[in-house]
Amino acid sequence: MEPFLSLSDADKQSLVSALLDLSTSPYRDYPAFRDEIAELAASPRIPDSLARACESIRTARTNGGACDYLLRNCPLDPVIPVFDQDDPVADKYRQKTTFVGEGFLALFAKLTETPLLAYSTRNNGDFFHDVYAQNRYTKTQTQKTDGELYFHNDRTAHPVRADYLALLGMRADPRNLVYTGYVDGRNILEYLSQEQQAVLREPLYCTPYDEYSRDSNQLHVQSKPHTILEEAQCFRYYDTRTKPMPNAPMEARDAVIALKDAIVRADKVRVRIGEGDLFSFPNQAGLHNRDIVELGDPAQAKLRWLLKTYSFRSDAYMRRFDDAFSTGVDGFVYDEVESAYAA
Ligand SMILES: [Fe+2]
Repeated sequence: MEPFLSLSDADKQSLVSALLDLSTSPYRDYPAFRDEIAELAASPRIPDSLARACESIRTARTNGGACDYLLRNCPLDPVIPVFDQDDPVADKYRQKTTFVGEGFLALFAKLTETPLLAYSTRNNGDFFHDVYAQNRYTKTQTQKTDGELYFHNDRTAHPVRADYLALLGMRADPRNLVYTGYVDGRNILEYLSQEQQAVLREPLYCTPYDEYSRDSNQLHVQSKPHTILEEAQCFRYYDTRTKPMPNAPMEARDAVIALKDAIVRADKVRVRIGEGDLFSFPNQAGLHNRDIVELGDPAQAKLRWLLKTYSFRSDAYMRRFDDAFSTGVDGFVYDEVESAYAA
């Protein structure tokens, strides 16, 4: 995939300097961190190239244009630590003392007007997540696996779901061919008849929560019955995991088989996210996966690290979920309110 923007070395360096001046840890005080980023976003320290690119992305997304974007040569922290793989998140709190990567993701969200989303039960409520192998989740379908991930959207089983995901390559050995695939929902729909789409719009399906979610919240085992297709082209689907309800009619099964075929046939992009690459793409208006094509250095592959954010499509859209932000922090989903959305 061609990058939409490759920052110049000078612009990257000035962003690193600006982001090293942040005085708050996003893991200790997210609202203060967000306010610092908002101030930075409005200041002359933002390179024109980045401001213009983000404005183009925002406009295209709002007007039904391209939704997936790759930015290269993004600012990263001067030191990229290796974390203990028994508990990488706890080790990150100990070792990470600068927040350039987090700041750049927050800045991108601010400049594209897609506010960040977090869950109280995921990574201790952090707004910044690590795609990083954790020993106990090896060979699972979670963000902490070192294996492949089938086509899906994130938090398929959760009632509040991100509209966009952003992945920032912190450490990625170029000898390892690990690809993030993205298929636009519009491309999938080309291969589904109106009748099949209508069945996928019925709440005839369920998706078990992943192992990581279940470990964090014992109420999270099985989703409520849900539709697979929503709005114009939004999906709630995790390949191999989303199934028709046991009592669903035969048409529901046929429609899932047709969807699986459509995913195979649809045009896709594949991105090898390298160090300093930011890939931002829709979470619901398409599906993504992880393909491991070849590992030239498997030991390094275990240390691959992408910093990740979830975000809403707009401030106005985020307001629809105000009831979920019961602690008063915008975008912070306090998970015990889930039953409010269960009906
Ligand atoms: Fe994912």
